Amino acid sequence: VKRAKITSVGQYLPEDRMTNKDLEKLVDTNDEWIRTRTGIEERRILKDPEKATAFMGAEAAKEALKNRGISAEEIDLIILATVTPDYMFPATACLVQGMIGAKNAFAFDLSAACSGFLYALSTGTMYIESGRAKKVLVIGTDKMSSILDMTDRTTCILFGDGAGAVLLEESEDGTGIIDQKHYTEGDSECSLYQPAGGSRNPATEETVKNKMHYLQQDGRAVFKKATMGMADVSLEIMERNNLEPEDVAWLVPHQANLRIIDATARRMGLSNEKVMININKYGNTTAATIPLCLYDWKDKLNHGDNIILAAFGGGFTWGAIYLTW
Ligand code: ACO
Repeated sequence: VKRAKITSVGQYLPEDRMTNKDLEKLVDTNDEWIRTRTGIEERRILKDPEKATAFMGAEAAKEALKNRGISAEEIDLIILATVTPDYMFPATACLVQGMIGAKNAFAFDLSAACSGFLYALSTGTMYIESGRAKKVLVIGTDKMSSILDMTDRTTCILFGDGAGAVLLEESEDGTGIIDQKHYTEGDSECSLYQPAGGSRNPATEETVKNKMHYLQQDGRAVFKKATMGMADVSLEIMERNNLEPEDVAWLVPHQANLRIIDATARRMGLSNEKVMININKYGNTTAATIPLCLYDWKDKLNHGDNIILAAFGGGFTWGAIYLTW
């Protein structure tokens, strides 16, 4: 049976940094509060009004292709996870396909909020395993600054813009994506959502006036659910693959809040040195956090390392993937 493997990673991060000090000028907050409550020190913001989610995803994809030394025409499929698509339609994946010139690929978006990259990676894996595709680009890209209310201190401090991309191919040596488990709990949409802009509340003067086009959340509810969700699904994956905590080389958690990450690692019995953390530099980039971690750590990973990816997000959606590097 075929196994899918991540054979390359790429990223795009906007140059402009927004520090906690910068946010102090916008809302009643302070660097100390943000650092201790979230672990975030700064985040990137895509300021160029001409550019958005597709641009960042395309740049990340181009780097992944370059690092593997292949052309865009070799790609069969592009799966793009985002909650901040350039348009409601067409899909942002189609824009990326055009931007990078992947003329032999079909392309679609996948919507699973902060779990989007994991859901997309699982989907891409199935195309490789079935032999229906040979080269799949999986992209997580979000311009969260486009849906943030910069007067709401409870949300605007948490997020940043960025993109990560991985190339999936058939494994040649048996290492690669081994197991995956995902969950959905679809009766809690109002805990974390963007109320307007879709068909339920189409954008009108009224919805804009009421700021319904901005992300809204019940932070405490999300916090509790995220900690339990990410840890428990990871433990489930570890148990059914006979992995003890000492067998795991790396945990790659979605980067929403350092306290969520710490609590997840603790519940899994993992020490902090085994956890990839870059939330301090980028904040929560939603679909991009996991590939951005893989990118930052790619030179430290050893062939065969046992890696657990875990995420939790709006929907609610959550899940974990077990792979060997
Ligand atoms: N600066 C200063 N004070 C603030 C700020 C801020 N930016 N934001 C909130 N406060 C205040 C609150 O008003 C509150 O004041 P009060 O006690 O006078 O009412 C106090 O700080 C404590 O607020 P809490 O909401 O209890 O703070 P908490 O420690 O729960 O942290 C946070 C809030 C950071 C939002 C946290 O709940 C969290 O991270 N939740 C997860 C949300 C999340 O990550 N969502 C992202 C998408 S989902 C995902 O990626 C997993």
